[in-house]
Amino acid sequence: MEYNIPKGVFDILPYRLDDQSEWKVSSKWQYVESVIRQTCLEYGFQEIRTPIFEKTELFIRSSGENSDIVSKEMYTFEDKGGRSMTLRPEGTAPVMRSILENNLTQLTPSLKLFYIGPNFRYDRPQAGRYRQFHQFGIEAASSDKPEQDVEVIEFLCQIYQKLGLKNLQVQINSIGDLSSRSRFNEALKEFLSLHKERLSKDSQTRLEKNPLRILDSKAPEDQLILKGAPSILDYLDEDSDRHFKRVLFLLEKLGISFVINPLLVRGLDYYNRTVFEITSTDLGAQNTIGAGGRYDDLSSSLGGKQIPSVGFATGIERVLQTMIRQGCSFPSSESHYLYILPLGSEAADYCFELTSKLRKAGIPTEMDFSSKKIQQGLQVASKLEAKYCLIIGDQEISSGTAVCKNMTTREQTSIELKNCMETFQNLRKSEV
Ligand code: HAM
Repeated sequence: MEYNIPKGVFDILPYRLDDQSEWKVSSKWQYVESVIRQTCLEYGFQEIRTPIFEKTELFIRSSGENSDIVSKEMYTFEDKGGRSMTLRPEGTAPVMRSILENNLTQLTPSLKLFYIGPNFRYDRPQAGRYRQFHQFGIEAASSDKPEQDVEVIEFLCQIYQKLGLKNLQVQINSIGDLSSRSRFNEALKEFLSLHKERLSKDSQTRLEKNPLRILDSKAPEDQLILKGAPSILDYLDEDSDRHFKRVLFLLEKLGISFVINPLLVRGLDYYNRTVFEITSTDLGAQNTIGAGGRYDDLSSSLGGKQIPSVGFATGIERVLQTMIRQGCSFPSSESHYLYILPLGSEAADYCFELTSKLRKAGIPTEMDFSSKKIQQGLQVASKLEAKYCLIIGDQEISSGTAVCKNMTTREQTSIELKNCMETFQNLRKSEV
């Protein structure tokens, strides 16, 4: 084929092509999204949809010039007016831009938003890492209290639990305020400088620009050195320390187990205080299924007033892949319901109209357009996994009754055509 799909992206199809494509079946995406939407309702989060692209400056300003996203991964283009635009690599900055631009905090004392949609990062594609991927995220732009952090973490755990996910670990840390981070940065830089020659190449570059980022390096040589590194938790300012202790207390109170990971700093510059990641042992190298944290200063760094906020995002691809690996159950997708098989040209006209009426009455209906013989038609009905096949010839039209075959039990019944709609509506009701 001359035209094939670009690297790192994928189609979501109504069909399962093979074992590897199971997580790309659209009914599975719909199921996960329906659980998400229902849980958002229960926790009071309302939907926001921001554009797929924004001004490039928004992401540079929010994620930070030295973040991997900005320095390596953005899909940036110049539009016809010569303005630099970027396909959104993440959802938090666009949501905050919209909150500020639309003055949303004026409208409610508790601003709790959620989004589901595609994001774009030019990264090396591999299992669990795509160039277009989908995030479900929430942003609670309403409170600076530890309760808000814990509500957000509990919410994410609740979604995973509802979907049946197991073997997950909540990792949590606090990166304090700006002053604690700069004191820690100094100490970390001093320590790492002693080992500079043994650090990975990437980390040597980061040592000057952003030593904090070295903490989440996966390079084995860095990990060895980091074992002796100072802990950010020893550098927290008093308020952040108190905040963190209360977060941990409330998590325990809700029975959410967690591991404190002092190396967890996250790859985006806007965080302060609480940061967290949820990892799965069933995901391989890209084992973070969801992540987030507090970002009280993002709004002011974008030129607005201070809006204390906390949120998370979870990759829907990773959620589905984990569910499938763990054998979580999905509801069976609704198959075609009724297949109408006309016999003869007069019947075809009659059935065409009947099909339209049945659909308008809420009965999912398909009709054969190609004058199939009965046996052939029944085979198609069975391939489509239709529940019923209604066979209508000229004779049935004049007698006003037709044969309806139950495709599961193979039982045949007679149906009065004038009551056709009510009959199928009642059948569907009785099956729910
Ligand atoms: P993030 O850690 O960059 O955070 O991404 C969150 C999640 O998105 C990851 O844990 C992963 O599940 C998924 N993800 C990220 N990149 C890819 C990729 N290339 N392919 C597949 N999945 C991916 C954020 O984006 C923050 N905005 C989260 C947040 C919201 N913090 C506060 N509010």
